[in-house]
Amino acid sequence: MKSKGSKDYWRSGRLKGGLDKNTLKFISSMDEDKRIADADIRVNEAHILMLHKQGLIGRVESVKVLKALEKARKELEKGVIFQDYQDKYVDIHQLIEQYVLDYCGVKVGGKLHLAKSRNDQVMTDLRIYLRREVLDIIELVLGLNNVLLSVSRKYKNAVMPGYTHTQQAQVTTYSHYLLSYVDTLSNDLMRLFEAFSRINLSPLGAGALAGSRVNIDRRYTSKLLGFDGMVENNIEAVSSKDFILEIGSVLAILMTTLSRIASDLVFWSTSELNMIELSDEFSDISSAMPQKKNPDSMEMIRSKAANVLASSYNLFTITNGLITGYHKDFQELKPALWRIVDDVKSSLGIMKQAIKTLKIKRDMMAHLVVKGNITALDLAEFLAKEGSLSFREGHFLVGSLVKHVISTGSDLTMIDSRLLEMVARRELKKKVVVSDKVLKKVVDPVQSISARSNIGSPRPREVGRMIKSREDRTKRLRKLLSEKNDKIKLSEKRFKSLVAGKLAAKRR
Ligand code: ARG
Repeated sequence: MKSKGSKDYWRSGRLKGGLDKNTLKFISSMDEDKRIADADIRVNEAHILMLHKQGLIGRVESVKVLKALEKARKELEKGVIFQDYQDKYVDIHQLIEQYVLDYCGVKVGGKLHLAKSRNDQVMTDLRIYLRREVLDIIELVLGLNNVLLSVSRKYKNAVMPGYTHTQQAQVTTYSHYLLSYVDTLSNDLMRLFEAFSRINLSPLGAGALAGSRVNIDRRYTSKLLGFDGMVENNIEAVSSKDFILEIGSVLAILMTTLSRIASDLVFWSTSELNMIELSDEFSDISSAMPQKKNPDSMEMIRSKAANVLASSYNLFTITNGLITGYHKDFQELKPALWRIVDDVKSSLGIMKQAIKTLKIKRDMMAHLVVKGNITALDLAEFLAKEGSLSFREGHFLVGSLVKHVISTGSDLTMIDSRLLEMVARRELKKKVVVSDKVLKKVVDPVQSISARSNIGSPRPREVGRMIKSREDRTKRLRKLLSEKNDKIKLSEKRFKSLVAGKLAAKRR
């Protein structure tokens, strides 16, 4: 259907002639609106059902509008309306209303915009779109956490070096590392649920800024569209973009977590460390150097994180400093948001598969741990606990020992009681006696892990306890997600059959 020839009721009352061609293109959001097209039709349908319920549009008229909207949805799905209308209108709201006007005529179709504005409409569309994306992102994070948990079950005894200042710091295990990711990602999950609770509220009916004198039922449309409540104050409903800034920030934090994990994997897979190897599917070649296997997928996650941070910052720069009310500036929030959502979703999917399929080189991990004198702190703590030294004296003594073993080309796991006694006498002027058997145990990386029994430590039994508690938490969060998904799905199903019922009644 074409709008050709029909009168321009939008502009010609107030303005003379159409928009300048380049200006129309410049101010149009048609491209980015494709993502909210379906939501916009739903919002229009709910609005018509409400107008009819309130006696503001007759039954036959309302069904006619619903019919036009149904047709619009089908054509939009096929891309037909976009082809015919897209260069004529500035956004999806105008496009759909014009389609209805063309289909029903201005007498009936012209009732569609009674008691609403594009300002409350675009915010409603955006919230409907975003809540779906947020729930999908929660699902993806839960999926990643499940992989991390199941891999960490297998590597409770896989000792590896942990780093501070990118220098070997303390011995830990692969499981302990992965579990730390699970905990950070769980914080991300809580933040996502929190953000969801402020997204899933209906602004519909707020109108342009301060409501309508027409007797509408906001509660009804809110319920029809599956919202958990309303953004009550009309001004707040169209002005405040805090829920957008919030989800942008939450996703920026999530991507910062992912980029850290990606950096760990890049670091661990360097030719020098060689502690893990990404599977071939997640690596690329060099066009020049035949020996190379590059961790491109992880490097891209880092740069996607950079993009998400920039886009999230972009959300703030667009909204900051504007007075209360709607501004066309807000239109630019959408492309930034779409970029954020897309980059987050693709990164989460890749990270999950990469972790699931990568190879862990336990022997290399164990070798590095020995070479790095990484149990030095264990020995200093042992001397402070069992011997007559203060921690600072122990720290000093072990520091001297490390200097000694490095200069002789040996390492801490090779020392014996004689050497310890000699260095203590020389450097501390104290007699320190520890049997060879005990000393071996203290500096052994595997035994050192087992000796750390405090809460949150890498001791396999403690890690096992944490895995269990994180599995329980993941189950609880998954249940919460299902409840939210089910509620929205049910409301969508009910809404669809309500609209279908109205349309079928006409056909009978
Ligand atoms: N395309 C607009 C946007 O995305 C829709 C709202 C237009 N409202 C208005 N008062 N011009 O922000």
